[in-house]
Amino acid sequence: MGFPRQRMRRLRESEPLRRMVRETVLAPSNLIYPLFVREGTDQQEAILSMPGQFRWSVDRLIKEATDVHMLGIPAVMLFGIPDHKDERGSSGYDPNGIVQRAVRALKDHLPGLFVVTDVCIDEYTSHGHCGIVKDGRIVNDETLDCLRLMAKTHAEAGADMVAPSDMMDGRVAAIRDELDRGGFEHVPIMSYAAKYASCLYAPFREAASSSPAFGDRCSYQMDPANAREAIREVRADVEEGADVIMVKPALPYLDVISRTRAEVDVPVAAFQVSGEYSMIKAAAGQGWLDESKVTLETLLSIKRAGADLILTYFAKDAAKLLNVATP
Ligand code: PBG
Repeated sequence: MGFPRQRMRRLRESEPLRRMVRETVLAPSNLIYPLFVREGTDQQEAILSMPGQFRWSVDRLIKEATDVHMLGIPAVMLFGIPDHKDERGSSGYDPNGIVQRAVRALKDHLPGLFVVTDVCIDEYTSHGHCGIVKDGRIVNDETLDCLRLMAKTHAEAGADMVAPSDMMDGRVAAIRDELDRGGFEHVPIMSYAAKYASCLYAPFREAASSSPAFGDRCSYQMDPANAREAIREVRADVEEGADVIMVKPALPYLDVISRTRAEVDVPVAAFQVSGEYSMIKAAAGQGWLDESKVTLETLLSIKRAGADLILTYFAKDAAKLLNVATP
């Protein structure tokens, strides 16, 4: 039955009807806000490559997280910027490290805010790689020991969920084992399962001073050309015990989000990364794009592709826009 009996435009004629037949709805509860935490007090240090984003000292982080919470965003994701870096990233698994202290402070002041921690040593290593380096190679299994400890100290500090982003093989199983043995069997793991070796992390690496000192991350992060391989990564992580699966970056990888959604039944998260944020900020800053509209359209598209949860530096802005009552 085609035209003229079928007219697609009938359902688009009025605003209330468009709302009634809308297939995808974005809500603040879908969002997770990434936050950078640094040493010191009363610090709100601007990140130049990410306008509107800051490195917060723990005291100021509490205030910022209170705003996030008030906007109806259920969760934050913490990234640590330590004062000291070494070969093994040991400041990352120090029970008194910057993230561990930030988690404790957040859970003390805002018990209702869900705190997720990024588990990866790159922000804490002197060489900037996500694994231990031996003879110029990133060694897998030895890195797992660091990740176990990091995840455990985060859980001990009160983290509600841990999110390994290193792309070492076997890290979900190793972390699950460590958490279970430490009495944290209730703490879920959100695995950055399909994390691509993307150039879109550049602003983040400036924010965290975590650019690799030599080489690149291609021996552990995925080749942007591969989608089937992403499904193998996702399946492996689900088998190892991942509770939530993440695809990263988001917008250039909507096909991967969509395939992941079709392949597994666990919740799917997508990370709209620093470069995606900065591209929009830059174009909007020039007056070439309407920032609010691009923000909502990109987030909606990521959700439509199949993401249940979206990590985005636009979370606060999006929540404000979404909280404005529709007629
Ligand atoms: C690694 C990590 C990175 C990001 C999240 N976790 C950087 C990297 O892999 O180089 C990137 C996030 C972003 O670009 O917003 N700890």
